[in-house]
Amino acid sequence: MKLVIAIIKPFKLDDVREALTQLGIQGLTVSEVRGFGRQKGQTEIYRGAEYHVSFVAKIKIEIAIREELVPEVVEAIMQAARTGRIGDGKIMVTPLEQIVRIRTGEIGEGAL
Ligand SMILES: Nc1ncnc2c1ncn2[C@@H]1O[C@H](COP(=O)(O)OP(=O)(O)OP(=O)(O)O)[C@@H](O)[C@H]1O
Ligand SMILES: [Mg+2]
Repeated sequence: MKLVIAIIKPFKLDDVREALTQLGIQGLTVSEVRGFGRQKGQTEIYRGAEYHVSFVAKIKIEIAIREELVPEVVEAIMQAARTGRIGDGKIMVTPLEQIVRIRTGEIGEGAL
């Protein structure tokens, strides 16, 4: 199992949700987050050459999936979230050791 974490532009959330539900994923978690990337959140030059690091509002999506689904999930998020402009976000994939479905006590892939 893998945990896919995507940081996207907030106005892209509906497009990404739609793309992911079309893939038949069983659930996802969304959070409002703030962050910065290579441009350090800057929208303008601050006092000449000085950088002013600031945070930009983003949405974080977390999806626990079977490993085989990773390529299509990543592709779907990429297609749906891309504008081609800076700040489109990142997709991270990390191993998921265990998942427990609290109501039934199922563990592992059966709990996804
Ligand atoms: N290395 C990182 N670690 C953790 N979060 C990151 C990292 N890079 C970016 N993020 C998160 O992703 C958001 C969007 O990043 P962003 O798309 O601006 O990355 P970038 O590398 O600057 O790419 P681009 O040049 O296309 O803007 C950031 O606001 C931050 O929340
Ligand atoms: Mg950036």
